[in-house]
Amino acid sequence: METSRGSWGSKTAFILVAAGSAVGLGNIWRFPYQAGINGGAAFVLIYIVAAFILGLTVFLAEAAIGRATGKNPVCALKALKPNTRWHWFGAMGVVICTTVLSYYGVIAGWTLGYAAKALGGDFSRPLDQAMVAEMFTEFAANPGLMVLLFFAFILITVLVVSRGVQGGIEKLAKILMPVLFLLLILLAVRAVTLEGASKGLAFYLNPDFSKLNTAAVMSAVSQAFFSLSVGVGIMLTYGSYLRRSSRLVNCGMWIIGLDTLVAVISGLIIFPTLFTVPGMTPAQGPELVFVVLPVVFSKIPLGALFGTLFFLLVVIAALTSTISLLEVGVSYLVDNRRWSRHKATWLLGGLVALLGVPSALSQGGSGFFSRLPLLGKSFLDTMDLVFGAYGYTFGALFVAVFVGFVWKPKAAIAEIEQEGYHFRLQRVWAFALRWIATPVILVMLVTSFF
Ligand code: PHE
Repeated sequence: METSRGSWGSKTAFILVAAGSAVGLGNIWRFPYQAGINGGAAFVLIYIVAAFILGLTVFLAEAAIGRATGKNPVCALKALKPNTRWHWFGAMGVVICTTVLSYYGVIAGWTLGYAAKALGGDFSRPLDQAMVAEMFTEFAANPGLMVLLFFAFILITVLVVSRGVQGGIEKLAKILMPVLFLLLILLAVRAVTLEGASKGLAFYLNPDFSKLNTAAVMSAVSQAFFSLSVGVGIMLTYGSYLRRSSRLVNCGMWIIGLDTLVAVISGLIIFPTLFTVPGMTPAQGPELVFVVLPVVFSKIPLGALFGTLFFLLVVIAALTSTISLLEVGVSYLVDNRRWSRHKATWLLGGLVALLGVPSALSQGGSGFFSRLPLLGKSFLDTMDLVFGAYGYTFGALFVAVFVGFVWKPKAAIAEIEQEGYHFRLQRVWAFALRWIATPVILVMLVTSFF
């Protein structure tokens, strides 16, 4: 039975929606690239340690707040520390999720456009790097198309979220997550069996420990936080729809395991494919997916099909993440303002659509918002820096400090140990939260300023 706020149908449902939030653009383009330049398998190893130690530690802290209170980030902190200002940090989480959605949705819109391009056969004629680069510039400089694709992605997100926690978000994740895994495995098998795949595998997985400096370790840690969607109130909100009987530690291991698996397998798709075409080099970020891979799709057998499936995979990964970003604000409006879910979703979706227009117009050198005066970056890149990078790290720091020193690990452990569950590593967890996660995130935040 769904209560008025909503709740997940089962523990598996929670694992799927939370993994859906975690698996996103960060896994498919960012992780493989980071591994490629930071020592291959050596980086993958550090990443796994970071995800399971720091990621799991902060995940447990955040989800415990959510489940203990059964509320959105603002009300949850008000409930735990009444008559203080701690709930302002909850409000910060709501703001970060909403603003991140406004530019993440723009990139998600590109994936939708590229899936349509691949399906329409745009990559089935012979293409070289210059042609594909121009194709992307033309695409991104088309203001009408950019806004349209962005609106379309937000509209799909709104349609899912307005149907509710169980009837919308959970239902979709139960269909899309298995499809995502199927596509992922299919594409990986295709990629590693391409002629010349071994060169890409060597680039990706050859452990080069000489490249593991402090900067590489820091990249692994920040990649882990971003990729797991912890620190901004998503796991808190999703945790608030959980039943007491679900074991958080177990859920966390599953979510982190699935997220890591998708990241590692994405690398098995990207690099073998990339290196089959002579002269292709691994580029960073959106470049890699939109400017480099289409060349490869135009050259390999069944490239049009392979390309369409690849962009479909990215669309699915992005959609389950945009849903989680919208849900945080919606849960606040539903609990706090007593709005109906329908009204909250449509109004917040409308706000996000307005907020995202400058980001949508800022790419491709159209001149609009493409170089903001202060940082010399485009609107989209500035949003990503302020709300994505800093906001995100700050959120993770706040969760660690709040649970580690204010709410106290003891209270969180009592929540984790509901219904007779014994949390064996509770001391290790409390120590990790206070004396590993907190200082490491603090150092990350400080060093990122320079
Ligand atoms: N975890 C997502 C990814 O890997 C990004 C994201 C961050 C999504 C924060 C929602 C919230 O792409």
